[in-house]
Amino acid sequence: MTMRISVFGTGYLGATHAAGMAELGHEVIGVDIDPAKIERLQRGEVPFYEPGLPELLRKHVDSGRLRFTTDAAEAASFADVHFIGVGTPQKKGSYAADMTFVDSVIETLAPLLIRPAVILGKSTVPVGTAARLAARVRELAPVGDDAQLGWNPEFLREGFAVEDTLRPDRLVIGVDKDRPGRIEEVAREVYADAISRETPFLVTDLATAELVKVSANAFLATKISFINAIAEVCEVTGADVTELADAIGHDARIGRKFLGAGLGFGGGCLPKDIRAFMARAGELGVDQALTFLREVDDVNLRRRQHVVSLVKRELGGAPLSRRVAVLGAAFKPESDDIRDSPALDVAGQLHLAGADVRVFDPEAMANAAAVWPTITFAESTAAAIADAEIVVVATEWKEFRGLDPHAVGEAVANKVVIDARNCLPADSWLDAGWRYIGMGRYSS
Ligand code: UDX
Repeated sequence: MTMRISVFGTGYLGATHAAGMAELGHEVIGVDIDPAKIERLQRGEVPFYEPGLPELLRKHVDSGRLRFTTDAAEAASFADVHFIGVGTPQKKGSYAADMTFVDSVIETLAPLLIRPAVILGKSTVPVGTAARLAARVRELAPVGDDAQLGWNPEFLREGFAVEDTLRPDRLVIGVDKDRPGRIEEVAREVYADAISRETPFLVTDLATAELVKVSANAFLATKISFINAIAEVCEVTGADVTELADAIGHDARIGRKFLGAGLGFGGGCLPKDIRAFMARAGELGVDQALTFLREVDDVNLRRRQHVVSLVKRELGGAPLSRRVAVLGAAFKPESDDIRDSPALDVAGQLHLAGADVRVFDPEAMANAAAVWPTITFAESTAAAIADAEIVVVATEWKEFRGLDPHAVGEAVANKVVIDARNCLPADSWLDAGWRYIGMGRYSS
């Protein structure tokens, strides 16, 4: 059945969710407080890089099933189901999540609800938030108890956001078990398409739903830091962490995914989510339960220092005015997102140490230059590596993975490459006469 849906927030999560809901057959209105963003989206333009999303968005803006507004009242009178997909960034000077945007959606939307409505939160929030917001909605909404709030955490990955939205691994719906209301029924209608494909549909209480999301991200972060910690041991023993990951990954209980040793995790989710999780555990008096996440964070940040140290070592100690090519600025390939990007962090640290850093990224240049206006951003891979004394591959874009080591070798002053994502065919680079330094392998 076609439903009328609003999505508050039009960032990576909200814009994708809005277009995905339209693709599922619903009538959708996307809401944001940024008029420039809304104008672009209304023209069918996506203000960030996400493969497949521009096509999907244009399709449904054209079909009339998807539109955008800055007017919350318009969304409140149009829709029966309201999703919240605004950001919960790390607070300045603290580990905790900044709830300003989520709170402000509730404060704006709830007083406008003059007929029964279901609000489904998707943003990643500290456990306990949904119960607080559900009570606030009942208090503010003119329809009182007929405005119900549930939590429906989102697990999408940037770069695969469309696929993850249309074909999720699982759906989790948190409801207040004492007042379940219509939330499960409405969520089943919204996601009827996925449910018909036997996507697991899990109904939990509000706190569990909130915790499922942060636990999943904490587990993924832990898996990455685990293999990066092992990489540190490999580096001093001559072992190869990639072969090791293949071998342990064959154990189905462990699995090979997210055992990619390298420069560690970044982005708008994993780093801030584990920190917010620790902060929340502290508030709840169980900080000891999550102290291991501090280690996860530390291992992760050490990878960046390791790469910076390797560059300095290879340059003989002083990087001042030495030419360093950094390939990659996005936190991962198929994204223009530079939030907490390990690649950009390495480039920034080398830049601050006085190196002549030339960065190239296929999609993230504008975002990166806005944060680091004093770094030199090259126009192409070739321009970044021209006369470089050392090349650092910091994001594993396909364009970098496929570089021809012979051709690249002719452009550089010195054939030294640091493969900070273990994404290059090491043997080909070694055969072409390069000094190749991987992460947790081929160390020298
Ligand atoms: C993550 C979760 O995967 C997703 O379920 C959640 O909804 C949001 O957070 P995302 O931030 O898009 O998604 O990126 P992801 O693909 O998980 O990668 C996170 C970081 O880990 C990247 O910086 C990536 O380079 C790094 N990573 C990933 C590794 O260093 N090694 C790996 O093996 C895998």
